[in-house]
Amino acid sequence: MNDQSQPRKRRPRLVAAKTLPNPTDYVLALNGEFAEWAYDEQRALQHRGEWRQQFGLPVEHPLDLEIGTGNGYFFAHRALSEPSRALIGLELKFKPLIQSIRRALRGGAKNAKIARYDASCIEDVFAPGELNNVFIHHPDPWPRQRDYKHRLIQTEFLETLYGLMRAGSFVNFKTDSEDYYEWALPLIQQSKFKVTRQTRDLHQSEWAGENFVTHFEQLFLQKGQPIFYCRFEK
Ligand SMILES: C[S@@+](CC[C@H](N)C(=O)[O-])C[C@H]1O[C@@H](n2cnc3c(N)ncnc32)[C@H](O)[C@@H]1O
Repeated sequence: MNDQSQPRKRRPRLVAAKTLPNPTDYVLALNGEFAEWAYDEQRALQHRGEWRQQFGLPVEHPLDLEIGTGNGYFFAHRALSEPSRALIGLELKFKPLIQSIRRALRGGAKNAKIARYDASCIEDVFAPGELNNVFIHHPDPWPRQRDYKHRLIQTEFLETLYGLMRAGSFVNFKTDSEDYYEWALPLIQQSKFKVTRQTRDLHQSEWAGENFVTHFEQLFLQKGQPIFYCRFEK
């Protein structure tokens, strides 16, 4: 029987790698050359609650997440500059996923893995309390009002993310889209998280020195656009 009182579970926006009719080299590499460090959507589901074991790490070891790694400049930088923390990436698209893990591994990272999954269904992949810090840099802005529902930052997503994170951890969120930022900030402020940093011009702020400029950020900086940033903590 269909229980109308239950909210409908979101379904991930994914096409299974194994069912693609014409797999590219990037699709093949996911379950081939990079299979030890990269997980397709089916294998990603199998490690929910035991990602630290995938790294051979104890339960108290920090495990951070980057959502939407793009071509992986931050992903590789973060893995290499924080070798005492494990880092997982979630990325929808095959090419940036492989670029990201390849960049980290070529740099010598031993603490990085990446999974192909739709981050809006993040609770499929991670169990409550499994994550430490989370990085969300320049998520797709979905500028048309009728597409706002596709934006990653949503009330329900924030509630879920809060449950997945460990106390004392933070989320770093930055975007080049003023519209997305002004839309998302009230949702974050109304959530269980505590906003501890917030600026509408990251590069003129006190946090500019510690900021790593991502690929997308560079494109918008070159156009003279400000970067919007906030940190919120559990
Ligand atoms: C605009 S790019 C930003 C990439 C990178 N963070 C940067 O700052 O250069 C957004 C990235 O997020 C990925 N992405 C979009 N929606 C996603 C989702 N729901 N789950 C996981 N990755 C997603 C896209 O494939 C793309 O690589």
